[in-house]
Amino acid sequence: MRKIAILGSGFIGRFYADSILSQRSRDTVVMIQSRREESCKSFAKKYNVPHHTLSMEEAIRHEAVDTVVVALPNHLHLEAILLCVKHKKAVLCTKPLGRNASEALTILHAVEEAGIFNGYLEDLVYTPKFLKSKSIVDSGALGKILWAKSREAHPGPHSEWFWDKNIAGGGAIIDLACHCIEVSRSFIGKDIRPLEIMCWADTQVKPIDAEDHAIGLVKYENGAIGQFEVSWAFRGGLDLRDEVMGSEGTIWSNGFMRTGLEVFTSSSGVAYSAEKAESNQGWTYPVGDELNDLGYNHMFADMFNALDAHHAPKETFYDGYIVNAIMDAAYASAKSKQWEPVELSVWRGRNTSEKENLLIDFDAKHWLIKEEITHFGTKKLILKEKSTGRIFERTVE
Ligand SMILES: NC(=O)c1ccc[n+]([C@@H]2O[C@H](COP(=O)([O-])OP(=O)(O)OC[C@H]3O[C@@H](n4cnc5c(N)ncnc54)[C@H](O)[C@@H]3O)[C@@H](O)[C@H]2O)c1
Repeated sequence: MRKIAILGSGFIGRFYADSILSQRSRDTVVMIQSRREESCKSFAKKYNVPHHTLSMEEAIRHEAVDTVVVALPNHLHLEAILLCVKHKKAVLCTKPLGRNASEALTILHAVEEAGIFNGYLEDLVYTPKFLKSKSIVDSGALGKILWAKSREAHPGPHSEWFWDKNIAGGGAIIDLACHCIEVSRSFIGKDIRPLEIMCWADTQVKPIDAEDHAIGLVKYENGAIGQFEVSWAFRGGLDLRDEVMGSEGTIWSNGFMRTGLEVFTSSSGVAYSAEKAESNQGWTYPVGDELNDLGYNHMFADMFNALDAHHAPKETFYDGYIVNAIMDAAYASAKSKQWEPVELSVWRGRNTSEKENLLIDFDAKHWLIKEEITHFGTKKLILKEKSTGRIFERTVE
């Protein structure tokens, strides 16, 4: 049984508590820390938490606490984690790990030198749809992964601090691309090195200094491409979609809207339909079980099982650091309008990743480029002669 302190009683702190305490869990939240007394008290009352405080250090140091969950705004992650290091408490941190790779690297070195357990709370690589898709990819059913796209778009975040570039570390990229990058990276292979990135970012709608919309391409050492699409200007709800293209197959996954539960109401509407839903009348798309469908349950199960068994969870601060480094390169590219290298001073994956030979032998003398049955009933083969490079087609009646 873990005895948990949650730092931050806001949006994600409450989702985390709902998940940790749901379904007859054996783990307990023993401490809540937040900025305002009334918010601490209402959280403590709702979740039956015995201790609350406004002091981060008091919450972390408390003798009843063995595990700390950081659910604070981005600019406080570093400070909170360094206090966990000081008091030698296991620490789990929400995304993004830092506001940039430099903060993330300081965090990574600190927890590893202190030898404390660290888990990166990237829920979108723990959703049931992601886990199933990943097991299909791992089984080889898609062949070599060539392109993995992940999209997260919504009408913008729910608290003021997200909109301040200095506090948050950026805009839609730091807030949303961190999810998408880890999803694509997981499909392509976390041991494959991200090399460089081309990114477009702009502030199309909101009166802010940071970007409210961005698209990026991350090139990996084995030739695969990861793509992220993020927006704070999207209208219609929370759009979470992944697409994976392999040499032998394809996955399309819609994580949130229009996933099979569709409700029409002409009354005053449903009270709560789903995160960031923009309408509760007419046709709505409620999410069956947000805690599960967003990955929180599987994520905390992995974290606490790993902690009990004294091994690393699937997502660690090392992963958080890699994601931050890719986002730093995205910001550099959006500015320079060039491909920018991903600078990694810590890399634990493969160092050379040779491109796989994906050519299909038709016979000893030819490669098969394509075969197709046409609408007029003929089968066509498009072949390439190995010795000359000549491309020609052959019709099979
Ligand atoms: N799916 C996800 O993984 C997910 C979703 C939302 C947010 N997050 C992350 O969780 C963290 C918190 O986001 P949130 O949505 O819960 O934010 P929020 O604004 O809803 O809550 C922030 C909490 O931190 C407290 N706080 C303490 N010091 C503060 C300060 N100086 N300024 C503002 N708040 C302060 C607030 O009182 C509040 O309890 C962020 O790092 C965010 O990126 C993750």
